[in-house]
Amino acid sequence: MPNENRSQGASARKTHKNGSFSSSFGFVLACVGSAVGLGNIWMFPYRLGQYGGAAFLIPYLLFILLFGFCGLAAEFAAGRLSQTGTLGTYRYCFASRGWDTAGKIIGWIPLIGSLGIAIGYAVIIGWVLRSFAGSVTGRMLSMDASQFYQEAAVDFGNIPWHAAVIGVTILVLFAGAAAMIEKANKIMMPIFYILFAIVAVRGFFLPGAWEGYRFLFVPDWSALAQVDTWVMAMGQAFFSLSITGSGMIVYGSYLGKGENIPKASLQTAGYDTIAAMLSALAVMPAVFAFGIEPGSGPSLLFITIPRIFSQMPFGRFFSAIFFLSVAFAGITSLFNMFEAVIESWQHRFRLSRRAAVLLCGAMAMGVGLFIESEASVGAWMDFITIYVVPFGAMLGAITIYYVLGYGTIEAELLAGRQKPLPRIYRFVAKYVYVILTVVVFILGIVYHGIG
Ligand code: ALA
Repeated sequence: MPNENRSQGASARKTHKNGSFSSSFGFVLACVGSAVGLGNIWMFPYRLGQYGGAAFLIPYLLFILLFGFCGLAAEFAAGRLSQTGTLGTYRYCFASRGWDTAGKIIGWIPLIGSLGIAIGYAVIIGWVLRSFAGSVTGRMLSMDASQFYQEAAVDFGNIPWHAAVIGVTILVLFAGAAAMIEKANKIMMPIFYILFAIVAVRGFFLPGAWEGYRFLFVPDWSALAQVDTWVMAMGQAFFSLSITGSGMIVYGSYLGKGENIPKASLQTAGYDTIAAMLSALAVMPAVFAFGIEPGSGPSLLFITIPRIFSQMPFGRFFSAIFFLSVAFAGITSLFNMFEAVIESWQHRFRLSRRAAVLLCGAMAMGVGLFIESEASVGAWMDFITIYVVPFGAMLGAITIYYVLGYGTIEAELLAGRQKPLPRIYRFVAKYVYVILTVVVFILGIVYHGIG
């Protein structure tokens, strides 16, 4: 019923019991907070250079556009339509066909993905927060970075900082739902962009930084002929946008009917890409200026980067702002992972918000405590990000476009939008996007991780 929805006008607001975002911009910032995270910072810069430099941007932007327009938008719209988050939305979609039992069960898979990734992510952001503190005190830069990292990346090695990350996340979500998430993101995300821009400008003035720009941007067109380039661009775009069949659904459920979802989805994708480019500019020129081999993942973030700051004039200052902004990027992603779980538990078990928040925090800490070593959290994150999350994302895409059905989701996508969707939208969403979610799941297993 697109016309009925459209007639509600731009000012219409829906009323989820957890409140709603106050504006389209607040919503987009919250979603950007979710999307921008470790993937942008420790993975994108390396992939950009490794898989063809500027040439990599062609498949990457293509996938960002496709996944943003058809994937993110669908998750937002499904949440707004059902007025609930993960568990409720799957129930809603399956109930529309009379398949109630399936709907009650299937939503748990993406929800477990959100909880699982939150547990592991909090461990890693705990190391980030500790690195921030180590930069402020100067301890991290006065010793070997690898030793500083190894002290914490062991069993029960980082309990206070790990607890602090979960504590801050819980505190914000305890204080409120949509409104608090919006407020926190409105503060933390602009700070993230500004601080990263400062680090990027610092990198520009380092002698030898030029090699880093060459690594990042000189195009190697032959990379486009390699399958791996396309696979990695697809995986990177998919996971960077936080398409999980879960987290973005709950943010969508806090969005007013008058907001233009396809437009907000593209804005989210755009800001996420800017963050990825900014990360590349903040990291790689400095890596090359100090003659270090480029890399990715924990060794880049916790060993290479601190080593660079320890050799750089005013390195302590730049290290502190760097790790603070990474912590902000991580915590704003955690808000979304936690919120998906909290809202679903409120809804499913009739828990008060505060009880659900505390339960989620206790579970994240209770399980995370036992995976604080690098090997344990690595194995945990591999399992969750290779098997559970992509499977959940695939279920989300199939549920929205096939179980709920294209016509219904299209009507929701049109609510709050003046223009119709492009004519090819239906074909691309149903036959390209949904099939690619299956491909992402399969290739993730084949490659042992592509996101
Ligand atoms: N999409 C977030 C990231 O890139 C979770 O880390």
